[in-house]
Amino acid sequence: MQTHYKTVILGAGAAGMMAAIHAGGDCLVVDHAKSPGEKIRISGGGRCNFTNIHASPANFISQNKHFAKSALSRYTAQDFIKLVEAHNIAYHEKTLGQLFCDESAKDIIALLLKEMTKAGAKLSLQTSLTEYQKTESGFALTLSKSGKATHVTCDHFVVACGGKSIPKMGATGFGYEIAEQFSHSIIETRPALVPLTFAHDILAMTQKLAGLSLDVSVRCGKVSFDEAMLFTHRGLSGPSILQISSYWREKLDISLNLKTKLDVFSSLKDERGKNGKHTLFAFLASIMPKRLAEEILARLSLSGNLADQSDKKLQQLANAINNWTLQPIGSEGYRTAEVTLGGVDTKDLNSRTLESKHVNGLYFIGEVVDVTGWLGGYNFQWAWSSGFAAGTAIASR
Ligand code: FDA
Repeated sequence: MQTHYKTVILGAGAAGMMAAIHAGGDCLVVDHAKSPGEKIRISGGGRCNFTNIHASPANFISQNKHFAKSALSRYTAQDFIKLVEAHNIAYHEKTLGQLFCDESAKDIIALLLKEMTKAGAKLSLQTSLTEYQKTESGFALTLSKSGKATHVTCDHFVVACGGKSIPKMGATGFGYEIAEQFSHSIIETRPALVPLTFAHDILAMTQKLAGLSLDVSVRCGKVSFDEAMLFTHRGLSGPSILQISSYWREKLDISLNLKTKLDVFSSLKDERGKNGKHTLFAFLASIMPKRLAEEILARLSLSGNLADQSDKKLQQLANAINNWTLQPIGSEGYRTAEVTLGGVDTKDLNSRTLESKHVNGLYFIGEVVDVTGWLGGYNFQWAWSSGFAAGTAIASR
């Protein structure tokens, strides 16, 4: 038996559910996972940073920096906030415009499921897509659930199956395969919003300091972020490092300013003039955690009183604090990356509808597309905006 739907959406994540809400009914959402929105559930430490009030195209990385503008302007952070408020979900701004649920990320999943039901969309979980092909009037799909195959046809086929990050949660990269089958090119993918790893000497230091967090400024090339950094047993993490990981490439240095509000060289010289008998350690411990002060001095083999230090040594110490340059050897990879950079090349997608320029009725939305947001609610905003763009385009046909 063959069933026909106007729309089949592959992936019951943030983007797929949003598209289903706006697709105008007669829509089936298919997902191989046991539950919908698994990434929403674990996001934001279980509270889901569901948008960012400052979201603008400048917060997104893509080969085409203009591509996201249309979708982001037609479904904004304010639009999603209105939906959250209509469902009486309490939320708060944590920092830098990042909005989180007061209670639980599950409230956002419940919101999406309620809206899907209202829109008449069906959900088929633990279901895989085993075959897909273009027909004259649409698509023919073979779905498999509990070993049983069903054949489905549809006019519109929406690929919303996310990226490669966190394979343990069911991320497959299948969307890229479908795109290539339909002659779409893929911008090289790589793990992003991910902790960075380091070779022996720096690793030994980060391991000793594991658990310590401080506000830093981190730079890679022309891009910089001022946010917290965390030393870990595997290297460096925390928001600032996750942010810069989206811009870092192999063999590039990153530079860290561990005391953004202090010119350490001037302060050291002043202090040497006023209190020359004070130790370097006492001075550093007065401006940063003691453990960090000890490690920095040990790494530079510096000790003794301020009065004993030449300008050159003070400059060396100041550089290690205000401009610590270091080269990551890699990242923790897709195992812990929050998102996948790259993806379906936007040059072959319509920016207003997210529809393929090669194949009528085929859409790519959410993380599978080469649009990657910064940390801070931007990736969900892209999922909502791109899902809305495709959904409303389908509903209008
Ligand atoms: P998403 O990955 O959400 O959904 C894809 C769906 O497709 C999944 O349900 C999956 O099971 C399904 N699927 C995959 N392959 C399939 C196949 N072969 N067959 C059938 N189904 C298949 N962003 C943000 O803005 N704020 C935040 O707080 C966080 N926090 C966060 C924490 C962690 C730990 C991670 C890993 C990620 C985040 N993110 C985030 C990023 C955010 O989760 C991500 O950008 C969106 O979930 C992307 O939405 P999509 O719907 O595109 O993909």
